[in-house]
Amino acid sequence: MVPLSPHIRATDAPPIPTARAWAAAYDGRAGPPLDLTQAVPGYPPHPALLARLAEAAGRRASAGYGPIDGEPALREALAADIARAYDAPVGAGDVAITAGGNLAFAMTMAVLAGPGDAVLLPTPWYFNHRMALAMQGIRAIPLPCRAEDGFVPDPDRVAALLREGARAMVLVSPNNPTGATCPPAVIARCAALCRAAGAWLVLDETYRDFLPAGEDPPHPLFRDPAWREGVVQLYSFSKAYCVPGHRVGAILAGPGFRAELMKALDTLQICAPRAAQIALAWAVEALRGWREENRLLMAARAAAFRRAAERLPGWRLDALGAYFAYLRLPEEAPGAMAAAERLAVERGLLCLPGPFFGPGQERHLRLAFANVEEAAIEAVPERLAAL
Ligand SMILES: Cc1ncc(COP(=O)(O)O)c(C=O)c1O
Repeated sequence: MVPLSPHIRATDAPPIPTARAWAAAYDGRAGPPLDLTQAVPGYPPHPALLARLAEAAGRRASAGYGPIDGEPALREALAADIARAYDAPVGAGDVAITAGGNLAFAMTMAVLAGPGDAVLLPTPWYFNHRMALAMQGIRAIPLPCRAEDGFVPDPDRVAALLREGARAMVLVSPNNPTGATCPPAVIARCAALCRAAGAWLVLDETYRDFLPAGEDPPHPLFRDPAWREGVVQLYSFSKAYCVPGHRVGAILAGPGFRAELMKALDTLQICAPRAAQIALAWAVEALRGWREENRLLMAARAAAFRRAAERLPGWRLDALGAYFAYLRLPEEAPGAMAAAERLAVERGLLCLPGPFFGPGQERHLRLAFANVEEAAIEAVPERLAAL
């Protein structure tokens, strides 16, 4: 074959199909398959949102190209939502809408770095972040986060690794794959360290809607107008609004960043899907109560998972939050790759092995409990115990 790009060849294969393929050999002996691989909410979108999507999709205007950086109504609605959640003066001018959160990350990296540059990526990492960097020839510098620290980055390590000359540091909070939340003070400290090192802080807050209510905002960064010089926030509508197939995400960034981002937006997406943007512009405010109900539902699933994990001698629940549990295998169990494959083939339990999330994860499994109801979570210990 004529050669292909070395960057794409150096990029990992999509992990979820690999894990699902293992389950093809499962014969049903332990009960119906339990799929805890993908981070999707296991409930449907709100019916009124579906009705608005259908109505918007039927409009002739929605079939045309839209504004490069998003429908003004959605930018307004999201800015108001962020201003409220972070208690900070954020406006529609800070928001660009993207065709999904993954594309938001890839385009952000296109703005911040190029082939041969490096970006600090805490491990365990979200595999698509690592893949997006590899595709663009950007080197990921792993920043190991330890279970004993609650998978929160150690600022001393951050400072040391930033000295290697990274263009940016990535933080995912609440985290995929661990579910861990980075405390506001640590996020602020990372922002200060990045600023001092001349690096950008890229915050992926896809799961922020699932943080406990009534607490302080996720971080104080947006209260200081200087955030626009060095911080970018990424968001996804996929989870909170239950519309991953409609591909809508967002980037929050200052004017200097956004001026360059327009080139990436125009080249890579032209515009984000319009019908979904129109429907979501309504949903942000109108479905606030529904989002809150789902936050409580996810918290109940997390609590059910925690109770279930107590029935698992030898296993250690190292982290839990948002959609995920990050479980440490018992000493006598095989490594995570073999364990995940055996669980799929012999017990019909599909989950992702730690090595999909970067180096040093050979003893962990990620279980996305958001996908299933509490009754199914109850069945997890029995399936895992068979290892
Ligand atoms: C941390 C994180 N960022 C981004 C995404 C992608 O979201 P989207 O569906 O908007 O591309 C996911 C999806 O799992 C995620 O976990």
